Amino acid sequence: MSNKLRLTALGAALAFGLTACGGGGAGSGGGNDTANADPSDLTIGVSMPTQTSERWIADGNNVESQLEDAGYKVDLQYANDDIPTQQQQLDQMITEGADLLIVASIDGTALSSQLQAAADANIPVIAYDRLIRDTDNVDFYVTFDNFAVGQAQANALLVGLGLQNADGSKGSATGPFNIELFAGSLDDNNAFFFFNGAMDVLQPLIDDGTLVVPSGQTDIEQAATLRWQQETAQSRMETLLTGSYNDGTVLNGVLSPYDGISRGIITALQNAGYGPNLTSTPRALPVVTGQDAEIASVALIDQGVQSSTIFKDTRNLAEQAVTAAQAFLEGDEPEANDTESYDNGNKVVPAYLLPVQTVFKDDIQSVLVDSGYYTESEVQSGQAD
Ligand code: BGC
Repeated sequence: MSNKLRLTALGAALAFGLTACGGGGAGSGGGNDTANADPSDLTIGVSMPTQTSERWIADGNNVESQLEDAGYKVDLQYANDDIPTQQQQLDQMITEGADLLIVASIDGTALSSQLQAAADANIPVIAYDRLIRDTDNVDFYVTFDNFAVGQAQANALLVGLGLQNADGSKGSATGPFNIELFAGSLDDNNAFFFFNGAMDVLQPLIDDGTLVVPSGQTDIEQAATLRWQQETAQSRMETLLTGSYNDGTVLNGVLSPYDGISRGIITALQNAGYGPNLTSTPRALPVVTGQDAEIASVALIDQGVQSSTIFKDTRNLAEQAVTAAQAFLEGDEPEANDTESYDNGNKVVPAYLLPVQTVFKDDIQSVLVDSGYYTESEVQSGQAD
């Protein structure tokens, strides 16, 4: 809460002879005081996990600029994928009087004490893209349809292998194909939604023998990649190749949940003699999926190296976060389109889910360039301007 509002609240309490009472003191975010405030007197704390992945930089920039366009002040912080740093940044936002928090957590279970402090100060909290778990003190969740992301990744793998056509009909290939599975970071609730969504599509084909996982590693715990790190994925891929493919067994496909992980996997595969691309002979690069449409991976898709990615338009997610923030600050409830899927261990958090799009080489122009997400020259150079 801004100083000005704090004084106004205090003034009102004195004028009516009230004593400060529970929860009403330090700013009733979502209550009357912010509802009557000028947006320029309200500060929104935006806590993002890391700047090592492009998507979070884009998210931070989009949220900041859209909030500023709506007239609010913004305190945007990145936490270097370090949990204590994120906790500290949130503590500071709260002490400095933030009126609302938008949080993309590193570890979804590690913020309970910060969020208790936010609740004590009546500061509404919006979980951004990643669910915050094990707390009552999260008011709303804006995200993409994460189960659908996993299903789309698995379908893209099947299309890449020729088992399925892009329209979902049966493809000309019959298999069996050798695949390996990668998952995200186990402290990120999304990792489970992606993996479960993917297995929803893949498990029947593993069961009927169309797909074979030579390493036998089909549990999310075995497939996980702490903090979604590219290097960690590269080294797991190297270990899998040594352990299960040294006898000449050929790997055909890899389920990867995120473009950074995909690039680590591709590097390991190329170092082991696959590729350099999807049509190379004698040993083509396996079909590798992805997520986020990071520019480096979009360039690889354009070059026929990575097979696909899932595009999540972070401009739209930022817009949903801003709409929800505005609703709380004006004393309303934001509109949810899902009130069932996201149980955070304490309660089902009302959510707004956005749709996602699968991108193969042929979709780059229509989905990413025509929508203004990237320019053609960025796709060519593999770098965002
Ligand atoms: C996000 C993904 C992202 C991953 C790694 C997840 O929580 O939903 O879009 O690829 O984190 O940053």
